[in-house]
Amino acid sequence: MNYKSRIAGVGGYVPENVFKNTDLEKMLDTSDEWIVQRTGIEQRHWVSKEQSTSDLALKATEEALADAGIDKSEIDMIVFATLSPDHDFPGAGCFLQAKLGLSNIPAFDIRQQCSGFIYAMSMADQYLRCGTYKNILVIGAEIHSKGLDKTPNGRGVSVLFGDGAGAVILQRTEVKDPSKDGHILVSHLHADGKYAKELWLPAPGTGFPVDSRINEQMLAEGAHYASMNGKTVFVHATKRMAETLLNSCKEVGVELSDIDLFLFHQANLRINSKVAEILGIPEEKVFNTIQKYGNTTAATIPLGMRDAVKAGALKRGMLVASAAFGSGFTWGSSIYRY
Ligand code: UT7
Repeated sequence: MNYKSRIAGVGGYVPENVFKNTDLEKMLDTSDEWIVQRTGIEQRHWVSKEQSTSDLALKATEEALADAGIDKSEIDMIVFATLSPDHDFPGAGCFLQAKLGLSNIPAFDIRQQCSGFIYAMSMADQYLRCGTYKNILVIGAEIHSKGLDKTPNGRGVSVLFGDGAGAVILQRTEVKDPSKDGHILVSHLHADGKYAKELWLPAPGTGFPVDSRINEQMLAEGAHYASMNGKTVFVHATKRMAETLLNSCKEVGVELSDIDLFLFHQANLRINSKVAEILGIPEEKVFNTIQKYGNTTAATIPLGMRDAVKAGALKRGMLVASAAFGSGFTWGSSIYRY
């Protein structure tokens, strides 16, 4: 059988509490003007203390299941992309599985940060195309707000990130008319570990020459907060996202002008504008959500997909391209007919 996979349903969830840039001004020694000018972000959603990452994922999953019109018992596997799991181990996929009341099916986490959803979707695609499974739940979910340095020391990172979850049901399908039927055409995945420390969260970790994963000195130095060389990430992100998109298009014989909608990772509005400029993509074909959600890392692409469907910007049969870049460095792209 010549199987492909299609997005049968999509869902998303962001917590209720909204933090506008002006709410961060006192806390972080920043300004609404700086954040909007440099990033495009106007607000973000942060969880209440009772919520965990798998709680957000559960809500997104329920919406995706309803959209796909399937019961949770039909899920064959859970692939959960997150850099902010409920606990160090086991993975958030296992906690989500229990909350869904499921057992036996495989559940695992993908730790590819901003590229997590592209990696997760590509891995699920392999299992569907070879016929092993019929329905795979692919999640991107993050709670950043519980791990941000909310003092002026953290302003370079903490203004950027929001909490949220997005989910898709990826379903095995047989494509009769590739110009109309939903399916993933291609995914490309990449990494370059020599840049691992340009955007990372060092502690807790075993990479320190001490006998514990975290100690008071690490805490005093803020090694338990993410640190980023923003300019280096920015430069590599624009270059690599444009490059991987072109390569994906080339492999399947698609012109950039054939793509109806671009759902990029949401790290910075200026990154997405620059990628559009490099590739000559009209800005109106790029669907952005960073203004209201900030960077929700693994959740940005499925959340954007959910919002684009709700806004009527994404309809069945449209050709979509996604690309992401982030910590690792990792990056990738995917072209799919929705
Ligand atoms: O999704 C994960 C991947 N992450 C990314 O793709 C992020 C890529 N990088 C970026 O988006 C941008 O580099 C940032 C938005 C993070 C920073 O923008 P920038 O234009 O590169 O600013 P900068 O880091 O060079 O800082 C410029 C100035 C500095 O002050 P001085 O040295 O010029 O006096 C910073 O101290 O802005 C200052 N600054 C701030 N000021 C107010 C840094 N953060 C803030 C802040 N509020 N939050």
